[in-house]
Amino acid sequence: KIINVILSGGFGTRLWPLSTPDNPKQFLKIFGGKSLFQHTVLRNRGLVDRNMILTNENHYKIALEQINELNSEFDYKVLEPIPRNTAPAITLAALSVDENDILFVTPSDHMIADEEVYEECVSKAVGLAKDGFLTTFSIKPSYAETGYGYIEFQGNNVLSFREKPDAKTAKGFVESGNFYWNSGMFCFKAGIFLEEIKKYSPEIYEKSLKAYRNGIDEVSMKEVPEDSVDYAVFEKSDIIKTVPSSFKWDDLGNFDSLINYFTENDFGSNSLVKSIGGVDVNNCSALSSKRVIGVGLNDLNIIEAEDTILILPKGEGQLVKDLYKLQNRL
Ligand code: GDD
Ligand code: MG
Repeated sequence: KIINVILSGGFGTRLWPLSTPDNPKQFLKIFGGKSLFQHTVLRNRGLVDRNMILTNENHYKIALEQINELNSEFDYKVLEPIPRNTAPAITLAALSVDENDILFVTPSDHMIADEEVYEECVSKAVGLAKDGFLTTFSIKPSYAETGYGYIEFQGNNVLSFREKPDAKTAKGFVESGNFYWNSGMFCFKAGIFLEEIKKYSPEIYEKSLKAYRNGIDEVSMKEVPEDSVDYAVFEKSDIIKTVPSSFKWDDLGNFDSLINYFTENDFGSNSLVKSIGGVDVNNCSALSSKRVIGVGLNDLNIIEAEDTILILPKGEGQLVKDLYKLQNRL
């Protein structure tokens, strides 16, 4: 069986105040009337046999409502009382199925276009997963992003995997031409993943197994170390393969990428993003249902949410995470 494991544990704080802990990024129905979560289900449903949701109690309710609207359903659910990042989450997913099941792990908050190319890549990845490899999808980088993982590759072989390099290293990677971005989607046999996490991050494996046996309760989850699957397994394992992929991919991680996305992909008369008019206004965009005008403005993004308006210089989208923490006293 091929199971789509839909990762939905994030709060999308870099898209606050549009995305909030009660209604995070992946559930906002602003992409042609559907959410990124719904697009994920639709994109994959012809390619997999089963769906698994990997999220927390609150978000499960929204996910269930939104999948039912598509006349689909969850065959498996793993609900985490507290988030422990992707390594424990995916370990719990792998423990919940047969060791020979193929897990196709996809974030619920990315945008992908070019369906035919995508389908071809997924079927190659499933082939590599059946042969016993941990398979990644790699995307040609368009700039030196420091928030991504980088995969050094030759054909389908992975020479190295480097998670979140510093700016200088990332620049070197992009210039070298043989490093691609890790897309954050993975494909492998459940049993093979468990062997690798046991080998490279034994404490995560043992504590996750204990939590699984205790019914994934809060007390046992608190004991599980927090780590992402990229550091815990993919940087270390020697059985990684990759499918160099040319479909259009964007993780819409901040307002710069979200607003660019809307500017390039018009959703017709419902388009949420418009350029700001007025006198001497240059390179300013508004994500708003209202008309926005001004005088003497340069390089700004203005975002209207339910009860807040955010004004942000273009290119500073990553800072919203800090703003969120400050405003919410975290
Ligand atoms: N269920 C669950 N539980 N999901 C989680 C948890 C958790 O504890 N933590 C994160 N997730 C989900 C997020 O919602 C997101 O969909 C996905 O797992 C990846 O987590 P991020 O926190 O967004 O990871 P990242 O952006 O720092 O890095 C990953 O994605 C990049 C591409 O977008 C890595 O895989 C990078 O290598 C990759 O380049
Ligand atoms: Mg991310």
